[in-house]
Amino acid sequence: MYTLPLFPTARPRRLRWTQTIRRMVEETRLSVDDFIYPLFVVHGENVRREIPSMPGVFHLSLDQLPREVEEISTLGIPAVILFGLPASKDPVGRENFDPEGIVQRAVRVIKEENPDLTVITDVCMCEYTDHGHCGIVRDGIIVNDETLDIYARVAVSHAAAGADMVAPSGMMDGQVAAIRRALDDAGYAHIPIMAYAAKYASNFYGPFRDAAQSPPQFGDRKSYQMNPANAREALREVALDVQEGADIIMVKPALAYLDIIRQVRDTFPLPVAAYNVSGEYSMIKAAARNGWLDERAVALEVLTAIKRAGADLILTYFAKDAAKWIQGA
Ligand code: PBG
Repeated sequence: MYTLPLFPTARPRRLRWTQTIRRMVEETRLSVDDFIYPLFVVHGENVRREIPSMPGVFHLSLDQLPREVEEISTLGIPAVILFGLPASKDPVGRENFDPEGIVQRAVRVIKEENPDLTVITDVCMCEYTDHGHCGIVRDGIIVNDETLDIYARVAVSHAAAGADMVAPSGMMDGQVAAIRRALDDAGYAHIPIMAYAAKYASNFYGPFRDAAQSPPQFGDRKSYQMNPANAREALREVALDVQEGADIIMVKPALAYLDIIRQVRDTFPLPVAAYNVSGEYSMIKAAARNGWLDERAVALEVLTAIKRAGADLILTYFAKDAAKWIQGA
């Protein structure tokens, strides 16, 4: 090999001397192409209600979507991921696979407004069920295999509505295989699956659960989401999803799990997505509002770190602002 020279021959500061040289040797650069913007769609008319724990993020009714889609598209953001708040909740979450459900209708509105905007749908049950869990509940247990049938129906109904990609987030075993098979059987072999492959039972989801009105009504999600203390288990979860046919593999949350993103990126040849979750967003917003942090600088630093760790795609509530910051810079 070779030996690196030492000081005074070596002076790393030479490459930081001017702004232009720093730009030339920059290793990681955010692009608007990296971003996926989450949207929360609700029933009703003229609803544009800010989520108190997530400043700058809104509940939107269908009539608000064309304007939102135009803004997102103008900024060059390539994709959105949809979360729906149903009109009513029940034990299986019927609206989840209803062709007239809120997400299915939102997909149609968005694709009509801009067919080139990629529409990804979150496939889960917690927003739709009265118990708030991500699966069917029997005797207080979240049962796995019966839940897969529901996920399969939901995914097919999203594809039928025109979704470009589905993203199962419920952390049931076998969910990717079940959805892949159902999509293929229904004529949607071309629709990719972005699997929430390593999803942790994280307290950083707090603000999202307000936004999606989806907190579990009893217990917690620890029997299906992963223990934050485990890293090798993440590689096993991702490997299973890859073998079941996942096209994109996701790590979630992002910021407290940069080591997982790096390991997943180094281990598997698929594109890696990372979810910069609600709590990671709200922390920065809250500190910025207090004047404790520079929102723009910190948000861009965090997003750059997520990309540097190995994420090809970043799901983030900062997508619109970051797009403006990057383009304006
Ligand atoms: C639903 C789901 C959750 C998030 C995305 N999909 C919440 C959860 O698992 O409780 C969290 C997103 C965020 O916090 O921004 N299964």
